[in-house]
Amino acid sequence: MSHMLDKARQYEKEAEEQIAKSIRPLFHLSARAGWMNDPNGFSFFDGAYHLYYQYYPYSSQWNSMHWGHASSPDLLHWEYQPAALAPDMHYDKDGCFSGSSIGLPDGRRLIMYTGVYREDSAPGNISSVEYQTQCLAIGDGTDFRKYRKNPVISADQLPAWGSVSDFRDPHIYQRPDGTYYCVVGNRTTDGDSQILLYNSPDALEWEYEGVLASNKGRFGRMWECPDFFELDGKQVLLISPQDMLPRGLEYHNGNGTLCLIGSFDEEKGVFNEQYNQAVDYGIDFYAPQTVLAPDGRRIIIGWMQNPDACSIREPESPWAGQMSLPRELSIVDGRLYQKPLSELSTLYGREITYENVPIYASDSGSLHLDGIHGRTLDLDIRVRPSLPGSTFGVFGIHLAEGEQFYTTIQYRFKEHTMKIDREFSGSRRAIVHQRKCRLDGKPDGELRFRLILDRYSVEVFLQDGRKVMTSAIYTDQKADGVSFYSDGDVLMDVTCHEITLI
Ligand code: FRU
Repeated sequence: MSHMLDKARQYEKEAEEQIAKSIRPLFHLSARAGWMNDPNGFSFFDGAYHLYYQYYPYSSQWNSMHWGHASSPDLLHWEYQPAALAPDMHYDKDGCFSGSSIGLPDGRRLIMYTGVYREDSAPGNISSVEYQTQCLAIGDGTDFRKYRKNPVISADQLPAWGSVSDFRDPHIYQRPDGTYYCVVGNRTTDGDSQILLYNSPDALEWEYEGVLASNKGRFGRMWECPDFFELDGKQVLLISPQDMLPRGLEYHNGNGTLCLIGSFDEEKGVFNEQYNQAVDYGIDFYAPQTVLAPDGRRIIIGWMQNPDACSIREPESPWAGQMSLPRELSIVDGRLYQKPLSELSTLYGREITYENVPIYASDSGSLHLDGIHGRTLDLDIRVRPSLPGSTFGVFGIHLAEGEQFYTTIQYRFKEHTMKIDREFSGSRRAIVHQRKCRLDGKPDGELRFRLILDRYSVEVFLQDGRKVMTSAIYTDQKADGVSFYSDGDVLMDVTCHEITLI
């Protein structure tokens, strides 16, 4: 093992001991120490899920990328494992960027990742060139050895119009005939983006096959972190474009994650896109990966942070970066649906249900309900006008509410939109704090949604998982109130499960 990896392993072990469990999310994975971004190498082997992640253990800011590692029997109880990779070779000296992992036929585990190498500029010359290449590491899942022939895909296997500096995040998978494919994000020299396809007989020697999909100027500039899989008879290409321009409420500014749904023409090596949509309509969800669970469920997990809003975390925080709740995916009528991981119900503690609670326009302030409070909750909410056929303007909830703080989830009947607003969640930063999502169809008498709250996040599942809104909140844990309000006369049913971890 290199000195650099050994140092990271020793450091993270000691640093973790200094971080009280009570100041971490309860059931979402957070950085063992320091900084975490993208999920990497999401996989299931040896009876457990394994999630590696972009990692800089020594501070709460992004820096020279390592790979952290955690494992879990159920994607909710996580155990930290020793860091898996450090940027300790000349070809990855400026970072071991995102990638994926797969089991080899002989039982060993293979990681495919992006090695970043910046050519030092000549004295007096301020420009330097960054090279991103695809590299391998092979091991037992915990300890990996970098492949002696690294990099296995480099500039000479790029099409002429492909940039060497933005060529990253390989997603590897095995084909039914035992050979391998990998898809890699690449910026084109004219500033657009494409996903490239490579094939290999043994996952070691790679050959360029062609362009799997092209942006054609539609969604942002560089497509990062592709994932490519079959689901419910369709082929899905997940991408995380940088620098997007918003389109109504569908695609928001900056970095976001898109789901392209279509089919794969294996003969031509081309993805034929039929539908596209945003994956998350909240603030913080990026660079997700999926895993196929042993029971056949396709499960997604994302980095629960917007790259443009990382400053929401105070610089002195002992950990920065958390993963979303794992979500089960399905496709219905050309649309991706996400449902909270079913195993979440195994963490349910106290349950409280209220039915037909009236909330009146004339109520001054918000309604608190006995027993409904806390920072680790699963809330199922149904709201309808008190009189059939009548309407209301807004219905809202304040979460993580204290004297000074709260985060709002607010539905507007006329617009048929849900808004998340964390302006008063305790952030000292002038960054994006609000986002709106338009629900599909027309209001149909009853609004139903599910809200999952952990100590530092809120995730809202709308319309049976057709749309999801995710946001990190770093509110003081003492703010644990939940209240409801409306400007019309409505009736509400609410089931609240407290989430506990044993
Ligand atoms: C996405 C990303 C990836 C890259 C990694 C570096 O958040 O920019 O494209 O591999 O982060 O940490």
